[in-house]
Amino acid sequence: MLARSAIRTLSSQSRMFSSSASRQFKVAVLGAGGGIGQPLSLLLKLDPLVTELNLYDIRGAPGVAADVSHVDTNSEVKGFAADKLDEALDGTRVIVIPAGVPRKPGMTRDDLFNTNASIVRDLAAAIGRVSPQACICVISNPVNSTVPIVAATLEKQGVFDPKRLFGVTTLDVVRAARFLGGIQGVDPKQTPVTVVGGHSGATIVPLLSQNSHGKGLKGETYEKLVHRIQFGGDEVVKAKDGAGSATLSMAYAGARFTNSVLRGLNGEKGLVTPTFVKSPLFADQGVDFFSSNVELGPNGVEKIHPIGPISPEEEKLLQACLPDLKKNIEKGKAFVAQS
Ligand code: NAD
Ligand code: LMR
Repeated sequence: MLARSAIRTLSSQSRMFSSSASRQFKVAVLGAGGGIGQPLSLLLKLDPLVTELNLYDIRGAPGVAADVSHVDTNSEVKGFAADKLDEALDGTRVIVIPAGVPRKPGMTRDDLFNTNASIVRDLAAAIGRVSPQACICVISNPVNSTVPIVAATLEKQGVFDPKRLFGVTTLDVVRAARFLGGIQGVDPKQTPVTVVGGHSGATIVPLLSQNSHGKGLKGETYEKLVHRIQFGGDEVVKAKDGAGSATLSMAYAGARFTNSVLRGLNGEKGLVTPTFVKSPLFADQGVDFFSSNVELGPNGVEKIHPIGPISPEEEKLLQACLPDLKKNIEKGKAFVAQS
């Protein structure tokens, strides 16, 4: 049941920027001058639900804003320089955060922690002060730690609402659909895959058994596909050879996820997609943030779905995911506690 409804809703989300627009929203991008930030800002300019787009970065945002603002859609774009963070956040309903450094070959996402943890913590503190009602979509890595960092920072300020904080894991969902569609020779729209867990290596758990095209895969074909979904990010890092990690596919995934959040806020029903949120599913094992199918709505998170029936292979992947995820989450929380 869950698998079928998830497939239906996920495939409906592949229509990018669907909207039955009634209300419209002010959205901010923090890190808008970067490799993800620039194309993400362009794609958000194309989203009919976005009426105002505030672009912030410590460098380059006014230039990106001037450029994007000429695109002939009906939204206002403003750029904010390094000292204008509060103005950029003021009155925003959704804030997307791709600020921070990307990987180079040989690095893990956790290797980014030392630089990105304080960037994300400081941005979260400003959001808590200026715009605590906003939905926050965190792209900056390591997502498994940066999302708990945002939560703990907002908790310290007494303004944390778990319904409004999302780690963006959509790129894993996008890759899984594309790679499975490629193997089966069908349109990826027919091969949506629910990906649960976290967003790095073994914490990425694709539930291929829940898709009719994925459930028959066995042996080496299955193992290679799982590996490719778990380590798709490394493929891009290696190919870019020191020039960064996924930016264009991530901008697509980030804009698609943001559109889903906006559609939920706009009152649309039946929006279900995986995202990394404060979750009760494995909290009894000390894993209190987890990505699973989440129904989005007027308040952000409406309902966290259980993972549903899984195969013995997926059970093993899940058991491998949980200890790593627990460590990443605890590292994020400890960082804020010591700050
Ligand atoms: P990038 O270096 O091209 O851009 C990052 C931008 O952040 C830069 O413009 C920089 O000036 C800005 N920045 C740095 N500190 C800032 C601050 N305090 N406030 C505002 N902006 C600040 O990097 P990128 O390729 O765009 O990647 C950004 C992040 O996204 C990385 O951490 C990367 O690992 C992550 N990422 C996540 C996913 C995912 O699936 N969640 C996918 C790809 C990349
Ligand atoms: C990805 O999955 O592409 C991102 O998390 C970037 C990375 O470091 O691999």
